[in-house]
Amino acid sequence: MKNRKVCLVVGASSGIGKAAAEALAGRGHRVYGTSRDASRVTTANVVGLDLEINDDHSIREAVGKILEAEKRIDAMFYAAGFYTAGAIEETTPEQIHQQLDAYFVGAHRVTRALLPHFRKVGAGRLLYMSSNAGDAALPYHAIYSCSKAALQIYCDGLRYEVEPLGIQVSYLQNGGVKTGAEASFRRAAEPVAAYDGPRDRAIAAFHRMQQKGPEPKAIGATVADAIEARTMKPVIRADNFSKLIGFLGAVMPAKLFRSQLRKSLDIA
Ligand SMILES: NC(=O)c1ccc[n+]([C@@H]2O[C@H](COP(=O)([O-])OP(=O)(O)OC[C@H]3O[C@@H](n4cnc5c(N)ncnc54)[C@H](OP(=O)(O)O)[C@@H]3O)[C@@H](O)[C@H]2O)c1
Repeated sequence: MKNRKVCLVVGASSGIGKAAAEALAGRGHRVYGTSRDASRVTTANVVGLDLEINDDHSIREAVGKILEAEKRIDAMFYAAGFYTAGAIEETTPEQIHQQLDAYFVGAHRVTRALLPHFRKVGAGRLLYMSSNAGDAALPYHAIYSCSKAALQIYCDGLRYEVEPLGIQVSYLQNGGVKTGAEASFRRAAEPVAAYDGPRDRAIAAFHRMQQKGPEPKAIGATVADAIEARTMKPVIRADNFSKLIGFLGAVMPAKLFRSQLRKSLDIA
């Protein structure tokens, strides 16, 4: 295949990462997909690799295996991690560290493992899964929002540094998608009764958004489109919901926007 790319998909055993790996492999690209247990990467024509996002050694080992086999990596999509929900006061500092590790520091670990190769060849694509939560604090999901906001600012900063070296950086936003994320989400560890009603309603509403959302197939295709495009857009709003939220966030008075978010998360 002409323009066949070697792609690394981090978090390819489930959900959006799995759909992206499937789309890329379906288009004939050479795809390596990761999980903490490579046997969980079951997509046809996707090579499973063990990778723990909190462990530099395992990340470097996975990247090393691809480079040994393929002599190159062209693109990386980061979709690994879990989310935390609950009131800020209920969330321990350790949980905040873990949330940032999952969506932000983990992404940084993978990025650092790839950049020496990308710099050497003067090319490469880094695409990270963010969320609308990166633009605005979602009620009772603020720590999740913090991790996505950090990731987005990271991408914006990284772009200044590596774009002149031929490396493209983007992040992708999407609304609720039906994935395995609900099974691995973590509740804030130290409940405070004062938040019981709105916190439980907001968590339930967030789960409903995922359950009622589309299957991840469409977003997998969007990832493959981005990796195949001549130039990746810096911010990819994958679905209409994300496009609408991005627009409303920019033009709506803050008070009105916040009241819409309250309604969406069932705490109006
Ligand atoms: N679902 C949605 O509604 C939605 C909407 C917008 C954005 N997003 C974003 O999309 C991304 C993927 O979410 P998803 O819903 O597809 O989640 P998911 O189905 O739960 O998949 C998470 C992936 O991360 C991997 N993972 C988890 N912890 C890991 C660790 N410590 N080390 C290595 N890999 C780890 C899992 O693999 P193993 O468990 O096999 O290791 C799995 O492949 C996240 O960034 C999320 O914020 C999701």
